[in-house]
Amino acid sequence: MRDDPLAAPLALPCGAVLPNRLAKAAMTEGLADAGLRATDRLARLYRRWSEGGAGLLVTGNVQIDRFVLERPGNVVLDSRWLPSVDATARARLADWARAGTVAGNHLWMQISHAGRQSPRYVCREPLAPSAVPLQLMGNYATPRALRDDEIVALIGRFADAAAIARDCGFSGVQIHAAHGYLISSFLSPLTNRRTDAWGGALEHRARLLLETVRAVRAAVGPDFAVGVKLNSDDFRQGGFSHDECLRVVEWLGDAGIDLLEISGGTYEQPRLLGAAGRAEDAVEVRPSTRVREAYFLHYAEAIRRVARMPMMVTGGFRTRAGMEAALAGGDTDLIGLARPLCTDPDAPRRLLAREIDTLPSHEARLHLAARGRLSPASPWLAAKMVNVLGAQGWYYRQIEHLGDGEAADLGLGVLPAFAGYMAREIGRAARLRR
Ligand SMILES: Cc1cc2nc3c(=O)[nH]c(=O)nc-3n(C[C@H](O)[C@H](O)[C@H](O)COP(=O)(O)O)c2cc1C
Repeated sequence: MRDDPLAAPLALPCGAVLPNRLAKAAMTEGLADAGLRATDRLARLYRRWSEGGAGLLVTGNVQIDRFVLERPGNVVLDSRWLPSVDATARARLADWARAGTVAGNHLWMQISHAGRQSPRYVCREPLAPSAVPLQLMGNYATPRALRDDEIVALIGRFADAAAIARDCGFSGVQIHAAHGYLISSFLSPLTNRRTDAWGGALEHRARLLLETVRAVRAAVGPDFAVGVKLNSDDFRQGGFSHDECLRVVEWLGDAGIDLLEISGGTYEQPRLLGAAGRAEDAVEVRPSTRVREAYFLHYAEAIRRVARMPMMVTGGFRTRAGMEAALAGGDTDLIGLARPLCTDPDAPRRLLAREIDTLPSHEARLHLAARGRLSPASPWLAAKMVNVLGAQGWYYRQIEHLGDGEAADLGLGVLPAFAGYMAREIGRAARLRR
């Protein structure tokens, strides 16, 4: 077992040591209570994942703005709003952190602002660099462009959230700068049309990210892990490109982070899930040179040449052979895993014990089920989106089962999962608004 590359520890620049090379990537849980605080269900879920053997667990996105949520069940850490940072909220966070580290793994909080990708039923006025709407089935209101003073205040709130995460027992934070959320939307010239010091040249578009990293580092100190999740490419014509990603990674090296997680895509092009978005502005994904199962390895190879921090690549890893090849090729230091851990939370432990070589994968079945029922040729964006959201709803339901101490329900159909997900989300959002 000593020679197993998946079992090798990884030392991070801040001094922390991850016990192995398997990481659970962030997955939004939707398990906050009506006051947007952490719950027993979250603690139970993360205890399960901690016992599952991954060296690092990253939480689903915790929001720093209580009005602009990614989902109505997000945990919120908004330093302007006392109930999200008071003694009760902190005690719940501490329970979550304790439960999520029982097996000696690391637990990082992903901190995020949903930006323009906050659904209409949650938020009537999303916030963004510019008033560029997200046109997906009418589900997103036109965002309001942030004022300069609001951007500065948001940076402070990221830093406050990171300090609270540290005080409550999380061993690190990950700043979400991928997938089209606020920081990612600042990076893209398609969604950032500003002409002030936060828009235009890449240096200006990257300013929110880099100032957030600096503020977070100043708030947590040098010996606490700070990571960033970044798109290798937005995969949209005219969006944040792979070449721009390489420049930003160099700057992140100067800023001093402990881990860079590579992903890709936005709601318009959900490449993070290996799915296609609308055809008009798509940029094709280049074939991975080593392991076709992992979506972004080809990009990681180039990023590695400029990255001065350890790297994690997430998306598509399903076999031990693929993971070993990626580690051996030097393109990544950590293997990020998400969907397989919704149905087999013990998969990392079983991989490390060599009980399994392949992770459970339900994606093909889920996507085909939705396509077959909704549109045989699947030419429409709406059908593709229902397809993606149906599969997401299926995984959300499995996360809820784990949070309730139950096993995953593999017999759940994708359309009932989609319908149940939409009904629950809209109901929760209505209660929140009240
Ligand atoms: C149910 C679900 C929720 C997700 N939530 C988040 C999130 O909160 N933050 C994030 O950065 N990525 C999120 N992702 C993306 C995953 O972290 C990961 O990048 C993606 O699922 C690809 O990895 P996989 O092929 O191992 O599933 C989510 C994915 C799924 C399936």
